[in-house]
Amino acid sequence: MKVVAFNASPRKEQGVTDRMLKLFIEGMQEAGAEVELIYLTGKKIGYCTGTFACWLQTPGVCIIKDDMADILVKIREADMVVYGTPVYLDGMTAQMKTLMDRSLPLMYPHIEMRDGHTRHPLRGKKRQKMVVVSTCGLPEMDNFDPMITHFKAAAKTLYMNYIGALVRPAGVLLDLVAQSQPEKVESIYSAIKKAGYEVVAEGRMSPQTLKAASQELISQEAFMEQLNTTFRALGIEMQ
Ligand SMILES: Cc1cc2nc3c(=O)[nH]c(=O)nc-3n(C[C@H](O)[C@H](O)[C@H](O)COP(=O)(O)O)c2cc1C
Repeated sequence: MKVVAFNASPRKEQGVTDRMLKLFIEGMQEAGAEVELIYLTGKKIGYCTGTFACWLQTPGVCIIKDDMADILVKIREADMVVYGTPVYLDGMTAQMKTLMDRSLPLMYPHIEMRDGHTRHPLRGKKRQKMVVVSTCGLPEMDNFDPMITHFKAAAKTLYMNYIGALVRPAGVLLDLVAQSQPEKVESIYSAIKKAGYEVVAEGRMSPQTLKAASQELISQEAFMEQLNTTFRALGIEMQ
């Protein structure tokens, strides 16, 4: 199985998204997948200019000449696309949204009916599986809801097969909690890796594995206390 994974965190290797993606990829590779990880930050990927030239003037080819051309080839050739992004303002990062917008050349402009909904047909013959890997700062699971809703809808538009989302709330506290509860953080990491194995070996991520990966790291109250104490110690006060 050929997989292309995107990391849309501006923090690249320093971020929690990257830590998750690396473990997830390890699991996928153990199950026999061939995976390429692409960092969007640092790539030259301009905003879509909305001309529809990729549909009307140069069918299937974007008029913006940048790194997106190679990325579209990789998506077309992949069996699975892993969209790795942190939650930024309740959604994906701008880097990821730019990649999504620039995916328009993957489709024809024509209209077909899919499940009672008008859609654009896929240019390629291959239908990719879509997996989302994400982290956020706050501790609640519902912080991922708007982004997951968006990806699910995008999977329908891009005619991909949405497999699921592997998420880790309060990711910013992983290192801190690892000091007092190393076994808890270890179990989170091994669940993330297991999810990668499962998605390749079984075509799904089991609910138990996803639950273990997103298990409570810290209570809301402790989270609040921890963060506010840190900010006060840094001399950052509310007026
Ligand atoms: C601009 C910005 C917006 C963010 N918005 C949210 C948010 O809406 N909800 C949330 O829980 N965390 C939010 N976060 C926290 C990030 O999701 C968190 O820091 C995450 O670890 C970043 O991913 P990375 O470590 O891979 O870079 C935001 C961070 C930034 C910089």
